[in-house]
Amino acid sequence: MKHDELIKLAIEAKKLAYAPYSKFKVGAAILTNDGEVFTGCNIENSSYSLTICAERVAIFKAYSMGKKKFKSIAVVSDSKNYISPCGACRQVLMDLAGGELEVILANSKGEAKVLRLSELLPFPFGSKDLKRKKKK
Ligand code: THU
Repeated sequence: MKHDELIKLAIEAKKLAYAPYSKFKVGAAILTNDGEVFTGCNIENSSYSLTICAERVAIFKAYSMGKKKFKSIAVVSDSKNYISPCGACRQVLMDLAGGELEVILANSKGEAKVLRLSELLPFPFGSKDLKRKKKK
């Protein structure tokens, strides 16, 4: 799938954002290795910290359908700037998709920038760090 197509699906998903507090709508579309796309939008909460970002909605939807291998994720907003995943989303994406994930950032001017997740989150914490040594 071309980047443009994934961006279009993210733009569609953005329309469903529930962002009455920030008024900042975000859409995401994640592409699995087998060519399926799962979309997400941000869903805010009156208890602000319970808000969930578009990226996590997208990958959790995919994961909950048994999809565990991913190629790329597109992230869009209405801003003329590129919107880059927040720290929490970077950590979740790293754990569930890995550093090779292609992150496609698109702005409202129709431009896109592509990075690897490992560039956005270098030297990550991960499951490898939780491996304990056996007790004697
Ligand atoms: N947000 C996302 O959904 N993804 C991002 O990459 C950045 C921020 C949401 C969270 C909140 O609903 C609104 O944008 C403003 O922070």
